[in-house]
Amino acid sequence: MRPVKQMTTEVTRGPINLVLLGPPGAGKGTQAVEFAQRHGTPKISTGDILREAVRSETDLGRLAKVTMDAGGLVDDQLMIAIVRERLTRGDVERGFVLDGFPRTVAQAIALDEIMTGQGCLTVVDIAVPDDALVERLARRRVCGQCGNPTSVAAGEARDRCEKCGGELVLRSDDTESTVRERLRVYAEATKPLVDFYSSRPTFRAVDGQQSPAAVGAALAQAVEEMRAARSAGDCGAEGTAG
Ligand code: AP5
Repeated sequence: MRPVKQMTTEVTRGPINLVLLGPPGAGKGTQAVEFAQRHGTPKISTGDILREAVRSETDLGRLAKVTMDAGGLVDDQLMIAIVRERLTRGDVERGFVLDGFPRTVAQAIALDEIMTGQGCLTVVDIAVPDDALVERLARRRVCGQCGNPTSVAAGEARDRCEKCGGELVLRSDDTESTVRERLRVYAEATKPLVDFYSSRPTFRAVDGQQSPAAVGAALAQAVEEMRAARSAGDCGAEGTAG
């Protein structure tokens, strides 16, 4: 349960429990970092949690690595247990940004159940066509030290992270064949979530084929519109009223 809240605007309008949907490379991670910083809420990325487990060579990491490198999805019950535990921590009092979860209808149903009595979900889909995603992910490099993603143009010699100076590396699942498989898995397992959420008053889609700043502005506006329009307690999903 969330601790008792202080009397702020967030109390009257509720915490922002943001779920970012979108295909691989849509910019979920990029936007999640910005949004979370601006609102003082934690960014909870299931991909980051799994990559950290891989780096630390835990049992979870060993299990997840094979699936991730093949472009598949890690087991639903495992992912649900990870997120369920993460959302019990005190730092979600003012809300959170979920990046990469839910990814299946089973995960979305579980998230609704986890959120019962904990406030509404605000869901934003970042839409980008496949061709642009393949190109983006071919250019993506991540910092081996801090994990910050960046885009490196063909022929560009940059190999150091501009945030911490760490070495920029290709993510192990960003090879072209794995990206194609991730897109196929997204279309099959995750895209149905747009239908799952689209009838809710707390769902919006934004055009992800704009500059990162423009996507961020569209995201912020979508969240504000939903918060302004939402009548108190109406989350659009049974049992998730906050
Ligand atoms: P995860 O890490 O979640 O990967 P993903 O969903 O495939 O998303 P990405 O991180 O590739 O892309 P993104 O949308 O965050 O884009 P980014 O901001 O980096 O998951 C990895 C794996 O873990 C999964 O395949 C699965 O195996 C497993 N997993 C994770 N969660 C799971 C779950 N819930 N259940 C089961 N398995 C799970 O941007 C991409 C690039 O584009 C960057 O270079 C960036 O600089 C650039 N960019 C960003 N925005 C823009 C823009 N507006 N214009 C141009 N370039 C941009």
